[in-house]
Amino acid sequence: MGEFLKPLLIKNVKIKNNIMFAPLAGISLQPIRICMKKFGAGLTFTEMISAHGLIYQNKKTKNMIDIKKSERPVGVQIFGNKPEILAEASRIVEDMGVDLIDINMGCPATKVVQSLSGSALLKDLNLVKQIVKSVVASVKIPVTVKIRAGWDEKSINAVESSHIIESEGADMITVHARTRSQKFNEFNWDIIRQVKETVKIPVIGNGNIFTPQDALRIFKDTGCDGIMLARAPLSNPWIFTQIIDFLNTGKFKIVTPKERLKFILDFSKKFVKYRGDRGIYEVRKFIGWLSKGLPNASELRKECYKTNTLKELVEVIKN
Ligand SMILES: Cc1cc2nc3c(=O)[nH]c(=O)nc-3n(C[C@H](O)[C@H](O)[C@H](O)COP(=O)(O)O)c2cc1C
Repeated sequence: MGEFLKPLLIKNVKIKNNIMFAPLAGISLQPIRICMKKFGAGLTFTEMISAHGLIYQNKKTKNMIDIKKSERPVGVQIFGNKPEILAEASRIVEDMGVDLIDINMGCPATKVVQSLSGSALLKDLNLVKQIVKSVVASVKIPVTVKIRAGWDEKSINAVESSHIIESEGADMITVHARTRSQKFNEFNWDIIRQVKETVKIPVIGNGNIFTPQDALRIFKDTGCDGIMLARAPLSNPWIFTQIIDFLNTGKFKIVTPKERLKFILDFSKKFVKYRGDRGIYEVRKFIGWLSKGLPNASELRKECYKTNTLKELVEVIKN
């Protein structure tokens, strides 16, 4: 099993292992990325960031790229639909000292697809080609692309899009194994296997990996070079260590409620410190996920929702 766990070289960037934490809008903030890295993730990404916003010197957009030296390597994910704007945004990102750029070709959000970005790009493979070509030509750092199986069941084209993405010089492809129109419970890992058989650059499998056993299965079934997890680590950040242990030894440790509570306390302090005033409200959703399975979890969540200061929150968790 140990043969599946390995370091990766993405162009010239070395990744200590091939288990990654996904870009998640509104979630993949610095404290979350640092925590996933601490638990073993080999690579993390920022949430998707508007290329247009970066170019027009939107300060708020630039502030979304807040990467600590100690958490590197981190990829910055950008979205947009104009090759020249994505290329220019990539140059800005590169100048900020970022390790790699990921292009979003998977976002299903109505607002994003209406502007023909995200997963809507998969409906126009010529545009996919122009975008990858322009971005690759504009920077020296690695360029990676995150795609879906396709737009809908009638247009599954991950094999074609991957072929184009590789031909235009991208350094890695992540395949989210569902179409834009599929719900979260529908997925098909076989599309990852098909992409892996098509291209030579590293292929990362993503979609519905919730346990170390799932991780082993996706490696075996698809031959992928690495895996990416999004939702599972939100309630179980330990999953990175668990997968690494399972692939190495066939065993892994389940965290105790005490360890979980201690983590919630530490994480909440760090998160609120990082986000300032709004942090106390934003941290609630993380506590909601992290407390899953704890005895009296709903009570804890209810009490946390009543707090307005970090001091109050710490008291609630301690009690
Ligand atoms: C709340 C939420 C936000 C997401 N934001 C992004 C994003 O910014 N960029 C992206 O490429 N994918 C995004 N995704 C998709 C995930 O990265 C991932 O592909 C998907 O959740 C499947 O992985 P999973 O089954 O491990 O959750 C998002 C998913 C969720 C649930």
